[in-house]
Amino acid sequence: MCKIDVDRIRKDFPILNREINGHKLIYLDNAATSQRPWQVAQAVYDFYTKHNANIHRGLHTLSEEATEMYEEAHRAVKEFINARTWEEIIFTRNTTEAINLVAYSLGVRRFKPGDEIIITMMEHHSNMVPWQMLKDLYGIKLHYIKLRPDGTLDLEHYRSLLSPNTKLVSVAHVSNVLGVINPVKEIIKLAHDVGALVLIDAAQSAPHLKLDVQDIDCDFMAFSGHKMLGPTGIGVLYGKKELLEEMDPFLRGGDMIKQVKIEGASWNDLPWKFEAGTSNIAGGIGLKAAIEYLQNIGMDCIFEHEKALAKYTINKLKEIEEVKLFGPEERIGVISFIVEGISPDLVGIAMNEKGIAIRTGCHCAQPLHEFFGIRGTARASFYLYNTFEEADKFIERLKEIIAQSKKINVI
Ligand SMILES: Cc1ncc(COP(=O)(O)O)c(C=O)c1O
Repeated sequence: MCKIDVDRIRKDFPILNREINGHKLIYLDNAATSQRPWQVAQAVYDFYTKHNANIHRGLHTLSEEATEMYEEAHRAVKEFINARTWEEIIFTRNTTEAINLVAYSLGVRRFKPGDEIIITMMEHHSNMVPWQMLKDLYGIKLHYIKLRPDGTLDLEHYRSLLSPNTKLVSVAHVSNVLGVINPVKEIIKLAHDVGALVLIDAAQSAPHLKLDVQDIDCDFMAFSGHKMLGPTGIGVLYGKKELLEEMDPFLRGGDMIKQVKIEGASWNDLPWKFEAGTSNIAGGIGLKAAIEYLQNIGMDCIFEHEKALAKYTINKLKEIEEVKLFGPEERIGVISFIVEGISPDLVGIAMNEKGIAIRTGCHCAQPLHEFFGIRGTARASFYLYNTFEEADKFIERLKEIIAQSKKINVI
């Protein structure tokens, strides 16, 4: 069991000193986007002020430096998720673009009417709408794995959906609403047994868990830099090399070609085949700095800290009669709840009055909320810089909000 030095970590995040409405900021909206340490901002600043040039395009020193730094960023991601080679690491804008890349490059070309894709009821819209496109355009069948009442996946239902027609299973590693960690290794094994490929949406796991794509044996994995201390506008698609080599490019233009003739073009080597046009070079370099920051602290220790914070907060929430929680006991630091008689939006607004930032609404997971028969939830999500004192203040404020609304007879 490891312990992280939260006080020291907090010093690296200048934004945590901000005051909101006269109160010290308590940032509990990490599942939407994390804050960034100065080390990440510094890496981006250093790139722009010392090395800025376009990559792969010049023989001058700056271009060579920029190219080397950007390639190093791919290598850092390769190490972070234990890919076989950095050619399997494609930089995208975010998770959404990474999933769309697979839907277009693999799905449009390889799938045919009658083929089946399996996703789950708990997916973020980013891992649902691209597959709905394939259903609408190409007559592919889309199945949704049901959930148990506690928000875990009904694996029996999953087994019953698998067949030789299943071509792809695309599943969130961790739900952005329920915090539940899905048994991806088992899900992948079962899919491979029927010859299906598997994409893991790691948007909510890459920031918090140690990932190993070779161990779980996924075919694709997608995640976003901005949820794991990195810059916005940089995301990752991991794909097994042999699959990426077989797939057509998603976007076409500069940098992704080997040769262009009047009659047509041939494609560049991996990963550049999938990185058309001028890339988010500074974003990639910032992501590398974020990965180094997380690795210096240790993913296992970060997860331990968040798990403890979530457990502590959930136990306190359970004592509040008016609160209903969603999701199982075992989870990362994402807690979604409703308060009897008070809309999630009102909870969020009242929290903000005291400088506490939480998320409210459907969190881009409308079918999941529909499954639970609700329109939205309030969501508090923790990260490595959050403290137990902050959790206490959040609970205290929630009790105040409930008491105030009782006074004005809302409840
Ligand atoms: C599970 C999950 N998948 C996908 C996404 C989409 O991420 P992005 O908006 O960075 O593309 C999110 C964002 O919240 C998410 O939580």
